[in-house]
Amino acid sequence: MAAQIIDGKKLAQQIKAELREEVERLKRERGITPGLAVILVGDDPASRTYVRNKERACRDIGIFSQVHRLPAETSQEQLLELIEELNHTDHIHGVLVQLPLPEHIDERTVIQAIKPEKDVDGFHPVNVGNLHIGAPGFVPCTPRGIIEMLDRTGIPIKGKHAVVVGRSNIAGKPAAMLLLARHATVTICHSRTVDLAYHTRQADILVVAVGRPRFITGDMIKEGAVVIDVGVNRVDEGLVGDVDFDSCLEKASYITPVPGGVGRMTVVMLMKNTVEAVR
Ligand code: GUN
Repeated sequence: MAAQIIDGKKLAQQIKAELREEVERLKRERGITPGLAVILVGDDPASRTYVRNKERACRDIGIFSQVHRLPAETSQEQLLELIEELNHTDHIHGVLVQLPLPEHIDERTVIQAIKPEKDVDGFHPVNVGNLHIGAPGFVPCTPRGIIEMLDRTGIPIKGKHAVVVGRSNIAGKPAAMLLLARHATVTICHSRTVDLAYHTRQADILVVAVGRPRFITGDMIKEGAVVIDVGVNRVDEGLVGDVDFDSCLEKASYITPVPGGVGRMTVVMLMKNTVEAVR
């Protein structure tokens, strides 16, 4: 039987409606409007689109947003100065620097300059460390969105074998940590994994974040697996995920589409982190 498609758009709308109410309440009861500052350096087309989506989501929910669009030649010093200023701006609760940055700027230095309490991306080492030890802190938006999708679809995590393909700091690694925290047995695979299909076929929950179009095919998954596709790849036909949707659809029990899947959740989780930053 064909898998049930997890509708990221619908779930994101539900969560947006909840956030809208929460923002209203914050304004009414505490006189606070959550504020997000987004910094975009250079003019990478994909980054520009992502930033526009973030701006739009803020407007939609009632979050104050400001976007700092800086030229590609901006020096690291200038960027660090802006971050420092935003760290001390009271009405800005979340600060986000869109990645990737131009080559002359050191990403790690920039991320570390953001005050952990305003790091709504969850990329600062303090937040990464908190995630690893199970302490409260900001969790990266994409993996947080994945867990939210599973929970809201009623898919149990505890005791399941989750296989994560990809080990990026933005998606794969934090997704594995969150699944582990929810009592899944977790295997992390990557580009150098030998006999990848052997591992992916063990997965009750398969999370794919490798950045290769249609990389995971139907023969690589177990009958009844839950398949979560984090990939966004631009090919001639348009946007496709890291999962070969058609061949996996036949075998999976649940599957997320691209577009309209995990990506929709990422932006809304950023909004959730921003609202939580007020606390
Ligand atoms: N570039 C791609 N994904 C992300 C993200 O989640 N946050 C930031 N800051 N940059 C990104």
